Amino acid sequence: MTLLRIRVACAALISVLFLAPGAAPAQQNGLAVHPPMGWNSWNHFHGKIDDATIRAQAEAMVSSGMRDAGYTYINIDDTWQGTRDAQGIIHPNSRFPDMKALADFVHSKGLKLGIYSSPGTLTCAKFAGSYGHEVQDAETYAAWGIDYLKYDLCGLRDQMRAAPTPEAANKIMVDSYIKMRDALRSTGRPIVYSLCQYGVDAVWRWGTNVGGNLWRTTGDINDHYSRMAEIGFGQAGLSRFAGPGHWNDPDMLEVGNGGMTAEEYRTHMALWAILAAPLLAGNDLTTMTPETIAILTNRDVIAVDQDSAGKQGDRISAEGPIEIWAKPLGDGSKAIGVFNRAPTPLITQVDFSKLGFGHAVKAKDLWLSKDLGTIREPYTVTVPGHGVLFLRVSK
Ligand code: GAL
Repeated sequence: MTLLRIRVACAALISVLFLAPGAAPAQQNGLAVHPPMGWNSWNHFHGKIDDATIRAQAEAMVSSGMRDAGYTYINIDDTWQGTRDAQGIIHPNSRFPDMKALADFVHSKGLKLGIYSSPGTLTCAKFAGSYGHEVQDAETYAAWGIDYLKYDLCGLRDQMRAAPTPEAANKIMVDSYIKMRDALRSTGRPIVYSLCQYGVDAVWRWGTNVGGNLWRTTGDINDHYSRMAEIGFGQAGLSRFAGPGHWNDPDMLEVGNGGMTAEEYRTHMALWAILAAPLLAGNDLTTMTPETIAILTNRDVIAVDQDSAGKQGDRISAEGPIEIWAKPLGDGSKAIGVFNRAPTPLITQVDFSKLGFGHAVKAKDLWLSKDLGTIREPYTVTVPGHGVLFLRVSK
């Protein structure tokens, strides 16, 4: 390819990918005014799910106090699918004998039910995807009483790889997300539309335009500090693309799955709250320790995530392993996270005047649930290894 042809191709690709404006309006479906909160089966259970497991999670969401703290969606991820009948209608596999009855049960608990599919012929776990059956599947979900769809690119990537150009591959993907958006809309049922395509082609720039209420910005999280931190701190710069009805999704929570320390899980939860990220617990809600429940249900932390201003926070500074992130809140205060990415404790100073305040501020420590009264800079703190000092600060 000549240099000129490469330049022309790049310009065309950029115009396809970056058409959407940064500050986009709320979604037409009026859903996800705040980042969705709930639970998803994948991180803990992977393919080992059935009707009884989902019911038990719904019950535990209520009995643990999570529902009252704001968690609403019970989301079934991959591996629920069975086969299509002669008319092309999808049926769940034998582990889900009656999806409508399951939805009724979840609704009877004051919760909502989510499901998972792919725009490809197959999902990531090689179960049936929605390709060529989008309208039928949306109608089936609506008839069951589904309230949330996670639509995972996976199987469609084979078609994208076969496309002659990056632009053609992008069009295949974007068109497939529009197709399911339209199918969901025409059911008339309010169904949250969750795009899962790992951030391909800067989805934050066009996710709103294809009807996304949220879109995954990265590949999969796992239950290790290094991966959680890579994803969470890697969200720097994305705040302007999120807002009420359309959120960046750095993937589901790992809190309570056992691979991180409590300190690291508090970092995970605080960072997700600052990011106005969907809070989808990914652990087994039936076997939670008091510490896990405390992390997941901390009202002050949830209030940061769900704040009325609907603004995603962003990184203010990075000084070696110390990162300061801030989220503007509806009452004029700010959530401030002072993160230590090193494994050992570090002493640092917080300068409130560099965070939009004067030299003295009123502050609450959100993890200690402790009102600190008026504090003055230079405010010297020791932040534990992989930990966070999480403050709500006002004038
Ligand atoms: C991945 C997705 C995960 C999970 C999994 C199911 O592509 O990112 O969150 O849904 O597929 O197979």
